[in-house]
Amino acid sequence: APNINVANVQAHLNQFQSIANANSGNRAHGRPGYLASINWVKSKLDAAGYTTRVQSFTSNGATGYNLIADYPGGDANNVVMLGGHLDSVSAGPGINDNGTGSASILEVALQVKATGFQPTKHLRFGWWGAEELGLVGSTYYVNSLSSTEKSKIKAYLNFDMTGSPNPGYFVYSSSGQPTGSAALTQRLQAGFTALGVQTELTNVGGRSDHAAFARAGIPTGGTFTGAEGIKTSAQASKWGGTAGQAFDRCYHRSCDTTANVSATALDRNADVIASTLWATAA
Ligand code: PHE
Ligand code: ZN
Ligand code: ZN
Ligand code: ZN
Repeated sequence: APNINVANVQAHLNQFQSIANANSGNRAHGRPGYLASINWVKSKLDAAGYTTRVQSFTSNGATGYNLIADYPGGDANNVVMLGGHLDSVSAGPGINDNGTGSASILEVALQVKATGFQPTKHLRFGWWGAEELGLVGSTYYVNSLSSTEKSKIKAYLNFDMTGSPNPGYFVYSSSGQPTGSAALTQRLQAGFTALGVQTELTNVGGRSDHAAFARAGIPTGGTFTGAEGIKTSAQASKWGGTAGQAFDRCYHRSCDTTANVSATALDRNADVIASTLWATAA
């Protein structure tokens, strides 16, 4: 797997920030900054040879959009899927939540093409709308699939908040989550171990888009660097940063800008996304 160049991921975050700046400061569902974000990500994927599709839905009286991108080739009966939500809250630009996950899976998708990776399995990427209104876009996507199409998705990996400024290194626990996959969790943990980074398992329950896939019986996993939770002194000892402060003090606030991202956490998570995808899809 390639070592992802964090500068490329940061360049994508700068694009999301510019889009928010040009659109009343946010990229929220039903606002122009959201569709501009979809169109920009789509253009990057189209240029890299992905087959893209924009799926529309209605929520709260406004049109929402999911972007689905398929990488040509691989076994169509064995699909590995990566996803994250592209919408922000209306209070701010949503750069850590969830520009980070969105930009990281975009860069990994672009590196699939750039490295000439020829996976055995079929790769699909999803950017979800209206997560902040209750996992609306991802649920709409899963419900739009036939049971046959659902059964072809052998893994769904979710990335929501991967660059928190006072980061923790959390991997979604497989126990206690109906379709949490022990194999996926172990691969994500192994990716951090290879970087010399300790992890903790966390039960994220229904707090992000993996839950829509889990409810359909699809194996899921993911990583997370923390939101409103407070870093303990034990966590600060192993991860650095500031004990007694939130992992992300700008969570759901106007200050969730490009200044609200740990480049180290962003890079480590992007590298783990790549190593896990390569190991799962090879
Ligand atoms: N989904 C939450 C949000 O967008 C953040 C979150 C991600 C919480 C992952 C827990 C785990 O606000
Ligand atoms: Zn890297
Ligand atoms: Zn959020
Ligand atoms: Zn989020």
